[in-house]
Amino acid sequence: MSEEFRDLMAGVCSPVSILTTVDEDGPHGVTVSSLASLSLDPPLVSVALDRRSRLLARVLQAGRFGVNVLAADQGDAAAVFARSGIDRFAEVTWSWSGSLPRLDRIAGWAVCELWQTMEAGDHLLLAGQVVQAESSALPPLVYGRRTFGTHSNLPPSSQDAIAQFITAMSR
Ligand SMILES: Cc1cc2nc3c(=O)[nH]c(=O)nc-3n(C[C@H](O)[C@H](O)[C@H](O)COP(=O)(O)O)c2cc1C
Repeated sequence: MSEEFRDLMAGVCSPVSILTTVDEDGPHGVTVSSLASLSLDPPLVSVALDRRSRLLARVLQAGRFGVNVLAADQGDAAAVFARSGIDRFAEVTWSWSGSLPRLDRIAGWAVCELWQTMEAGDHLLLAGQVVQAESSALPPLVYGRRTFGTHSNLPPSSQDAIAQFITAMSR
């Protein structure tokens, strides 16, 4: 099942983000593809972190984390923040925002307070309450079929129908 499950999930496209936090050793960040919207009221996101992730203990201790939603041209940053044994923050341009590390030229930014955690097999599911959110018009980086790409729109005729459907649903 493991291989079939992996192949199935390879076809489920996801955003690519860098989760960040800070402790006495300085800034920490990790690439994740598990970010998802969880609730509107209160505004919650979820993210699954591998129990072996060094960031996990730091987020649990800090009780807050930053979400850098990457833009389409930030595949290199995604690769850097998945590698071990390097100074990840030396490879990108970033600054402090709300006392959390924020990369430059990202598609979106959120500051989250840890709301709840849930055991999820070899991962821990973190629910974060979004206390600050910003987005830009930059196209997002998307992970699918084990590679990076970006979102592209359907032809305009189908777009209109979908936009109407979504607007009607969200009323
Ligand atoms: C595209 C991509 C998506 C990833 N998504 C996740 C994820 O959702 N959760 C996770 O724990 N690790 C994920 N990883 C793996 C971590 O980025 C990687 O294991 C990292 O080295 C962990 O760093 P840390 O030990 O400093 O926490 C992903 C890696 C890539 C390249």
